[in-house]
Amino acid sequence: MIQITGIVANESGEGIANVLVSNGERVVRTDAAGRYEIEAEPGVHSFVTVSVPDTHRIRENFYRRVPETDAALDFALQSAPERSNKKFTMAQITDTHVRTEPYYRPQGAWLGPETGPRLTNDLKQLEQESGADLVVATGDLTDIGTMDELKLFRDSIAPIETPMYPVYGGHDGHVELEAQGGDRNKYEYVEGVSCIQNYQEVLGPVYYSFDWGGRHFIAFSKEDSYFSKGDIARKDRWVIEDLSAQPEGRESVLYMHTPPPVEFLDLLGQYNVTLVLFGHTHCAKVFKYNNMVVGGPTPLCFGGYDGNSRGFRVVRFTEDGFKFDLVQQSARALPTERPIEVPVGDPDGVLKLLWEHELPAPTHRAAPVLHGHDLIYSVTDDNLRGHAGVYSVDSTSGQRNWHAETDSSVKNSVAVDKSGVGVATSIAGRVHGFDTESGRMIWEHDLPRYPGRWIYTKPAIADGVAYTGGKAGYGAYDVATGEQRWYTTLYTPIGSGDPAGDLWGAFPSPLVVSNLLITLLAGRGIVALDRASGEIAWETPLEVTHYYASPVMADGLIVSGADFGQLAALDPETGAVAWQGDVLDAQYPTQVLVEGERMYVATNQGRVRCLGKYPREAFWSFQAGDDLLDMNPFRREVRSMWAAPVRYGDLLAASGVDGKLHMLNAETGAHVSSTQFPAPISAAPAVIDERLVVATWDGRLWAFGS
Ligand SMILES: [Fe+2]
Repeated sequence: MIQITGIVANESGEGIANVLVSNGERVVRTDAAGRYEIEAEPGVHSFVTVSVPDTHRIRENFYRRVPETDAALDFALQSAPERSNKKFTMAQITDTHVRTEPYYRPQGAWLGPETGPRLTNDLKQLEQESGADLVVATGDLTDIGTMDELKLFRDSIAPIETPMYPVYGGHDGHVELEAQGGDRNKYEYVEGVSCIQNYQEVLGPVYYSFDWGGRHFIAFSKEDSYFSKGDIARKDRWVIEDLSAQPEGRESVLYMHTPPPVEFLDLLGQYNVTLVLFGHTHCAKVFKYNNMVVGGPTPLCFGGYDGNSRGFRVVRFTEDGFKFDLVQQSARALPTERPIEVPVGDPDGVLKLLWEHELPAPTHRAAPVLHGHDLIYSVTDDNLRGHAGVYSVDSTSGQRNWHAETDSSVKNSVAVDKSGVGVATSIAGRVHGFDTESGRMIWEHDLPRYPGRWIYTKPAIADGVAYTGGKAGYGAYDVATGEQRWYTTLYTPIGSGDPAGDLWGAFPSPLVVSNLLITLLAGRGIVALDRASGEIAWETPLEVTHYYASPVMADGLIVSGADFGQLAALDPETGAVAWQGDVLDAQYPTQVLVEGERMYVATNQGRVRCLGKYPREAFWSFQAGDDLLDMNPFRREVRSMWAAPVRYGDLLAASGVDGKLHMLNAETGAHVSSTQFPAPISAAPAVIDERLVVATWDGRLWAFGS
């Protein structure tokens, strides 16, 4: 052990009392003269850090390397009274994955050196859009954590005037883990050196704290599989000491890379932590847990796995609390024109605008479900304004019937039983049974590991039983009472990402085929569960992943995306592959509509492709235009399509992230019309009688008819 002493002083050289100083394990406080004293073990403790109070800012650095021998380490601060203003704005960015060597990601996107200048541009735009006083970056700053990448990140944020507070994510330690024989998919502890040496060299400590506007902020690393056991113990001790050192009544904000496990939230709940922010999953999610708000945004520089646009989160703090906004960032200006008619060709002419309705938050990829004359919409509220849940809208008048609030966003459609009970599953994993007439909640059931679930699927209902879940497991629930019939825990192979959980948005929904529940498990394949027992009846390995289309029945076979560019058809009795082929002319299907002998496949590359029966000839293809928002995983400025095509008379209505409703001749693919909407259309429109109800992703509805 060595002894480190020093003074934390202001610009006039006067010591500042009561400043927290740490060696990354223990936390001490400066005395009335601004002096501190702390022990450290060279080679074990890396840095001495100062938790900068909200009356000051740093003049040089808030951290110094732990020296080899006893030393005096002084810290120079500058008065910054404006930082104690309780009204201030913070922006959170995440998962920038800055990359120096060009690399083709399996998600179908190139990353390379252009990620650096792009980050600078996106941050400059963020500064203008948010007016943020500070920016936190929640890890995976780089793609593999080489020195070059970390320097590219550092240099790319250097032109940004707003103070930036980054934190480490697993990708930032990737090459170091590999060099030690580790595997980032195995989630094992590193017995050697923590994989943070490059990061520390370029960006400094991987965990630290500071104050701003009367609040305490903690940048924390909980990527435990990248740390040695000793370092895990030290950082876990530090976070408790740091929180314990906060004065009574001060609220803390903690941000980290991975979503916090419930046990960690329980711990933080003992220390007046009110907000926990994370990244990692490339998906937006927000939920409340005890007195905490917990949430994460999509990446800044490319689309999320959940089809959410690239962007950032803004947190506006005031005296009494804070407000959230998830901001979509786009290089393009959204069109301002509003649609007034949809041309449907001769002899039918034109559908006129009948009504408009605005839901208070996005519906995004949840297509409406028709029940009688009502349309039931699922709404996602990642700003936590009380809008999450299910809405019923009268399809004739456009009037809202009711709103049934859920605990967190409902990311996919509801399912409705013939008894009139609807079932909606929230992203955090609460299953809600509601009355479709009144919106009254009848029952609720939490899936195992609630609220740590990531449910993006639509429930399936058959014979009075609702089946719902995600990659980590499915359950069967009595539609009338919510009583659980069975729950089956599922796993995906090591290497598939979160093998025991369902992190990452997975929209492929389960499908009932006679006595089986057909599920698509990312990284594993198609798995059929026995509907009576929940046991696995058969499974077929396929290279499927989370942003694929839901499996559908076509021509007596289960059709699903397979390897990139492929579709496969499986025998529902046995799971045997009847055929498989490169028929997509795209990376993967996002939605499939089956009608008789034909399949209309929407793809991530913005095309609808009309396919026939085996040997799967393609009849026609239609290409939509440029995306209005960057809603495609890992990509930006591309063309994509999330919405399923729907049939309207002789026509096929295809909707794109280009914000256009494309009316096509279903037989020939001939283009009839394209109507521009002011935002992307990311879920299928509804067809009721002769009317067509289109929703843009943000929850605005337009009904057209003669
Ligand atoms: Fe990431």
